[in-house]
Amino acid sequence: MTLSLRASELVDEIFQRLVVPLYFRTDISVDEQIRHRGKPLPYLNVAKSLIKEFGFKTIVEIGSMREAMGHALTTFHAPCCNDGHSTLHLASTSADVFTVDINPRSAEVLAPYAREYPNLSVATGDGIAFLQNFARPIDMLYLDAWDVIAGTDYAEKHLEAYRAAQPHLSKMCLVQIDDTDIKNGGKGRLLIPQMIRDDFELITWGRQAILVRD
Ligand SMILES: C[S@@+](CC[C@H](N)C(=O)[O-])C[C@H]1O[C@@H](n2cnc3c(N)ncnc32)[C@H](O)[C@@H]1O
Repeated sequence: MTLSLRASELVDEIFQRLVVPLYFRTDISVDEQIRHRGKPLPYLNVAKSLIKEFGFKTIVEIGSMREAMGHALTTFHAPCCNDGHSTLHLASTSADVFTVDINPRSAEVLAPYAREYPNLSVATGDGIAFLQNFARPIDMLYLDAWDVIAGTDYAEKHLEAYRAAQPHLSKMCLVQIDDTDIKNGGKGRLLIPQMIRDDFELITWGRQAILVRD
């Protein structure tokens, strides 16, 4: 079965009873963020199954976990899980995970997990420079860096990060983008249409977008 077919199947299964609101033109309150907004977890569960089933070897994440996790990875606690704890979810697979964050605090937050996840490499620096210098084929790219803040170039930067990753992406690959449910597509506003033009298949678009290439 192809990656795109299996990804669609998993989305059907995992999102069956989920309502994922879109806030394309409205501002959301902190309460809405926590109580109503879609969360990254179901998208991460789709990715984790695909990583396992398709034997992905290398994952690169731009924008690491920035807050300590106050519970087990297997439990869900809405106020704590709004960012996603993506770094740990990805590291819990058998793939090698390379995560980079411009803020050294993320490396501090992740330091206690070094022994549990020897497959996790944590770097501090700019995500675009990191991708430009990356020397291995990338099976999965997780983009969750420049925050969606009015008046900043978060959409341009996520597009630039994808362009920097492009030469390294494996032919069959998965790209996942967070915060695509707000502000006309948020971090994916420019990137998702570009990837579709580049022949990626958009599997789902809500709190996150999942795109694959077979
Ligand atoms: C929303 S958080 C990432 C959350 C994380 N993926 C999770 O699920 O817990 C966004 C992160 O992107 C980082 N960031 C912002 N600009 C960046 C850049 N130029 N390069 C790398 N990381 C950057 C921020 O420091 C912040 O820690």
